Amino acid sequence: MTKIGAWIEMLKLGASVRGLKKEVRFFYRNSLINSLLKEGWFDFLSQPRTAQDVCDHFGYTDMQFLTRVLDVFTNDGVLIREDDRYRSAFPVEPQPVKLPRFFGAAMKQITLDGAASFPDRLKGRYGTFSDGMNLFNWDDTLGLELYERLRMSAFRFSHALNRRGRFLDVGCGNGTGTAAIWGYYNRRKAFGPGSKMEIYGLEPDEGLRSIAAEEFPVYASRLVKLDRSVIEGLKEYHPRFVAGYAENIPFDDEYFDMVYTSQVLHWCNGEQATKEMMRVLKPGGLFFGTESFHPSMDPYVELFTLVNEGAGGVIRKEDFERWVREAGAVSVGFATPTVAFKVIKKSAS
Ligand SMILES: C[S@@+](CC[C@H](N)C(=O)[O-])C[C@H]1O[C@@H](n2cnc3c(N)ncnc32)[C@H](O)[C@@H]1O
Repeated sequence: MTKIGAWIEMLKLGASVRGLKKEVRFFYRNSLINSLLKEGWFDFLSQPRTAQDVCDHFGYTDMQFLTRVLDVFTNDGVLIREDDRYRSAFPVEPQPVKLPRFFGAAMKQITLDGAASFPDRLKGRYGTFSDGMNLFNWDDTLGLELYERLRMSAFRFSHALNRRGRFLDVGCGNGTGTAAIWGYYNRRKAFGPGSKMEIYGLEPDEGLRSIAAEEFPVYASRLVKLDRSVIEGLKEYHPRFVAGYAENIPFDDEYFDMVYTSQVLHWCNGEQATKEMMRVLKPGGLFFGTESFHPSMDPYVELFTLVNEGAGGVIRKEDFERWVREAGAVSVGFATPTVAFKVIKKSAS
């Protein structure tokens, strides 16, 4: 039953998963091709070249990342590899960049900025979430229905709304999701005198975290459809937004009854972040959320993730399951292709 609930949320997006994946793939692929075309890549690769030739010609320093980019193009048939040399498989022209359904204009800008930053990344200069205008684009993007459906699928799969206690939203971004979560519990009358419910958002990016703290009443009234004055009246139960990374959560062991994270793990060191989230979870507690585990994340999308500092990229379910079990999980479940997961930590005996 619970898996069906998670699926229903994803199906509400109204597109086949395969169709959507294809649109996303071409959007990222073509944006990257256009950016590297401007850099002169495909002219240079009209002759067979080694990765070292490419590094020397363009002044790149990160051979490991370059090899990943070359391999993604090779696996996709854009480049051909013969021995240790790569060359263009066809004369590469500017590609159409069509926005996938459910992506907004802001998401398009984030992707175009990401594509434009590949040459820098290949020279060892990483991006961050709120670089320049990206902050406002992320603020818009995190309000997309896509994120809401992912969140709802995780809640339906995990039955988190039947639980109460301290709740941590790791990598909460601009707090749109945290405000919605606050609304789910508020609707279930979880807040009031003697309430056991406390919601925390953890976010390393200062720009996004400030928006989360300042805009909570705005997002909550929009998402929860409650009057601002009612929301202000519940101030003592509002979420608290805290600075920190998933790999180093500034709370004691076993502090939270629930730890939730959605579309964050691939931006982190996956193993450290997963084990750290289990560390702050109480015995018997619930760790749940969503993540684009391998193979649900397209290899082009993963490359765009790796432009950011600290991002480890895609995680395999098997590794995730091993990490949570090493950190005390007694049960681990997955649902839907863009995966909802739920983990229960062993109870104190
Ligand atoms: C795609 S957004 C998802 C935001 C939010 N969870 C949601 O679903 O609306 C990814 C978030 O992960 C945060 N993030 C990136 N690296 C992180 C890390 N090492 N620890 C915690 N959060 C991180 C980013 O700053 C960003 O807010």
